[in-house]
Amino acid sequence: MEKNIQELFEAAKEIQSRAYAPYSKFKVGAAFRLKTGEIVSGHNVENASYGATVCAERVGLFNALSLHNSQDFESLLIVTDTETGDLPCALCLQVLSEFVSPDLPVYSANKEEVKRSFIFKELLPYPFDKFNLDESQS
Ligand code: THU
Repeated sequence: MEKNIQELFEAAKEIQSRAYAPYSKFKVGAAFRLKTGEIVSGHNVENASYGATVCAERVGLFNALSLHNSQDFESLLIVTDTETGDLPCALCLQVLSEFVSPDLPVYSANKEEVKRSFIFKELLPYPFDKFNLDESQS
């Protein structure tokens, strides 16, 4: 694995191990590389109401926005304990689409390695577009 991606993988695994997932037991770690080179990560945070659960990808994104004041994303890696690795759910993709480039590389890893890679627009080719919303209000 390329060093850059290996580091992202290690960061995602580290935070995945701290996921708060007592209900599903499905631990997810997400790590973003910022354009500054920094890594910002997040894990899923479940809730007894189930519906209030927040996915790892959104926790990572919100950490970057709030703690690092950054919207300059270079790549994203998601790790789960499944064989194939997993990808952001549709809700996370929509939220991410407001902040990341359509060309953002997205890596999906299992415990051992990156299994699949995509660019963001392959996962969500037609997001609901905030610019259309802005236009309709002007
Ligand atoms: N989950 C994520 O963290 N990311 C996704 O993209 C989909 C699902 C979490 C939510 C919940 O804690 C657990 O995985 C099972 O759905």
